[in-house]
Amino acid sequence: MSSTLDFDIRPNPRPTPAAERERILENPGWGQHFTDHMVTIRYSADKGWHDARLEPYGPLALDPASQVLHYSQELFEGLKAYRQADGSVVTFRPFSNAARMNRSARRMAMPDIPEELFVRALEVLVSTDRDWVPDQPGHSLYLRPFMFATTRALGVNQPAQEYLFVVIASPSGNYYARGIRPVTVWLSQTYTRAAPGGTGEAKTGGNYAASFAGQAEAVAHGCDQVVWLDAVEHRWVEEVGSMNLMFVLGSGSGARLLTPALTGTLLPGITRDSMLKLAPDLGIPVEEGKINIDEWQAGCESGEITEVFGCGTAAIISPVGAVRGADREWTIGNGEPGELSMRLREELLGIQSGTRPDPYGWIH
Ligand code: COI
Repeated sequence: MSSTLDFDIRPNPRPTPAAERERILENPGWGQHFTDHMVTIRYSADKGWHDARLEPYGPLALDPASQVLHYSQELFEGLKAYRQADGSVVTFRPFSNAARMNRSARRMAMPDIPEELFVRALEVLVSTDRDWVPDQPGHSLYLRPFMFATTRALGVNQPAQEYLFVVIASPSGNYYARGIRPVTVWLSQTYTRAAPGGTGEAKTGGNYAASFAGQAEAVAHGCDQVVWLDAVEHRWVEEVGSMNLMFVLGSGSGARLLTPALTGTLLPGITRDSMLKLAPDLGIPVEEGKINIDEWQAGCESGEITEVFGCGTAAIISPVGAVRGADREWTIGNGEPGELSMRLREELLGIQSGTRPDPYGWIH
């Protein structure tokens, strides 16, 4: 039960024909196509982690009484593998995802997975399916590790004793089909994403299930994404859609970044963390603090807030162009993607795709 588990390698006897794979890679979309293999590793309270396999991608057989199907003991992660100019393939900050999965696991009363085993699982899958890593600029192989409770039991008096960890991979183009375009966001005062003491900082499927109604409300009001406000006063800004939020204050050499602090109700984004490290090295001071919707609106109207963007692994950076709420509406700057937002995106993508140096040791 350790990171030194040997993987039982079971190659797919019917991999996708090369021509079909190339056709998919030309226009992969997002999260619609999957590679030929997956990794599975089992856990039980008595044996620990065991039975590590690389096997053909395909359906999982689950007992209908598996705890995850009833009580949602589930976690996931998301990260990307990038093709480099020399043809090699790297992943971005995989140990950060492993550490976050284990923080989520503690909150969801699930077992830790050794970080080395988590990263080894990614390596085994990516190296087997390396031909699936796109080489178009900005495209990548999105990796989705996840873990869920398989114990057959309907009792809710204790967490499951058995779990399955799986990694699948999906070639990905732009998260937004229409490319980088500023989004209009909706201030939801009906729904909250996370409450103090809840599971907001864990990357667990239930948080995302609970977000769909808020997202539908945003769409019903002609918006692209929902802004999540705090659960107590419904005015402190927390996240946008499934992303962290960043505010650019000032402009030019006086620009600085403000992002809501991690209070326990926000997801500790790895792109967020990368921005907090990258920006100061580009001469942009950063601050983790608080901002409410009145300050956001007033800041845009006075010109103090010049740009706002969401950031996450999937979209990297998603500029916000306008904000709408039940009783208010305003635009950010001229409503177009901000210069600094796009520069930060280029810098990060440069490190990920190997066209810029990586002084942080993020590339694996
Ligand atoms: C991300 O922005 O990377 C996310 O976590 C969104 C994902 C659920 C698609």
